[in-house]
Amino acid sequence: MTDPVPLHQASGSASRELEPVLVLGSTGTTGRRIVAGLRAEGVPVRAATRSPGKSAEPGLEPVRFDWDDPTSHEDALAGARAVYVLGPLVSTAPEAVLVPFIDRALALGVRRLVLLSGSPIRLGDPGLGRVHAHLAASGAEWAVLRPTWFAQNLLDPTHHIGAAVLAGDDLVTATGDGRVGFVDAADIAAVAVRALLDRTSHDTDHLITGPQALSYDEVAALLSKSTGHVIRHRAVSAVEAEEHMVDAGMPRSYAAVLAAMEVDIAAGSEAQLTDTVERVTGRAPTGLGDVLAASLEGRELAASATSASPTAVAR
Ligand SMILES: NC(=O)c1ccc[n+]([C@@H]2O[C@H](COP(=O)([O-])OP(=O)(O)OC[C@H]3O[C@@H](n4cnc5c(N)ncnc54)[C@H](OP(=O)(O)O)[C@@H]3O)[C@@H](O)[C@H]2O)c1
Repeated sequence: MTDPVPLHQASGSASRELEPVLVLGSTGTTGRRIVAGLRAEGVPVRAATRSPGKSAEPGLEPVRFDWDDPTSHEDALAGARAVYVLGPLVSTAPEAVLVPFIDRALALGVRRLVLLSGSPIRLGDPGLGRVHAHLAASGAEWAVLRPTWFAQNLLDPTHHIGAAVLAGDDLVTATGDGRVGFVDAADIAAVAVRALLDRTSHDTDHLITGPQALSYDEVAALLSKSTGHVIRHRAVSAVEAEEHMVDAGMPRSYAAVLAAMEVDIAAGSEAQLTDTVERVTGRAPTGLGDVLAASLEGRELAASATSASPTAVAR
C-alpha cells in the first residue's frame, strides 16, 4: 500500500503542490499529529479550529471552522486539494452534516477526502457508515480510517478512562476479559498522512490497530508498572458501567452507547489485529507500553490537555 511517490511530488501536480491540505480538528488528538506529519513532508496545511490564532510558520494557515456555523465551511474548503474530515463530535446523525459537506467540498474542487470513523462502524451503518458509503460512491479520491480505541485515552484527563487513571481510581468497564488492540494516535496520523498524500488514492477503509490485543486487566497491570502505582480493573455489568459513567458526568445517551460498546468488546469485537500501520506507512505500530512510557516521560502529556504529570498520576 505504501506509495513511493506522494501526491504532492507526483509529476504534473506542480500547481496542486501549492494547494493546502485542510485538516479538520487540527488541535485534537489525531489532527495535531496529522498537521505535524504533513508539515514534515513539506505540505502546505490549512489547520481548522474554532479559535484560530496567527501562524508564524510559512505554509501553516490557521482557519476558523465550526460545524455549528456552516458559513465557516466555504472559506476553509476553497482552494484545498484534500481534506482530513473529523466530523461533529457529539451528533446522533453526523451524515446529515457530513454528506452535504462532502458534496460541497467536491463542488469546490477538493479532490480527496479522508474520513475519521471507528473500528465498529462498517460501510452503510447508520451515522458514519452512511458517510463512508456516500464517499465511496461520490467519485472522489477517498479513504476511511477505522481505528480501534486510542492508547492515548488511558492517560487523557478529558477521557473518562484517563481521568480515572489519573485520579488513581479503579478502571471500571463492562469489557470483562475482552481484548482491545489499542492504537497509538501517532500511528493513526501516519496512516492518515499517507492516505492524504499518496499518488494513488487508497479508495478503501483502513481498520487500524496497535500490535497487541490486551484485556483491561492487562492494561491495568501495564499502567501500574508504568506509573509505579497500583491501578486495578473492576469488571462490571453494562448497567453498572453506564451508571459509573453517568456518575462521572457523562450524558446518559453517550454512556449507554459506550457501555454497549464495552459489552461488544467483552464478546471479542476489538480483539482483532491488523497490519494496516506497517502496510501503509512501512513501519511497525507502537505498542501500548511504549506509548504510556513516552506519555509519562512528559513528551506527550505536555502537549495534551492538562498538568497530567507522573506526579499527578502518583497519588
Ligand atoms: N478515542 C478513541 O478511542 C476513538 C476511537 C475510534 C474513533 N474515535 C473518534 O475520534 C474522534 C475524535 O478525534 P480526535 O480524538 O482526534 O479529536 P479530539 O482530540 O476529541 O479533538 C476534537 C477536535 O474537534 C474540534 N472541534 C470540537 N468542536 C468542534 C466544532 N463544533 N466544530 C469544528 N471543530 C470542532 C476541536 O477543535 P477546536 O476546539 O480547536 O475548535 C478539536 O480539534 C471522535 O469522533 C471519536 O468517535 C475515537
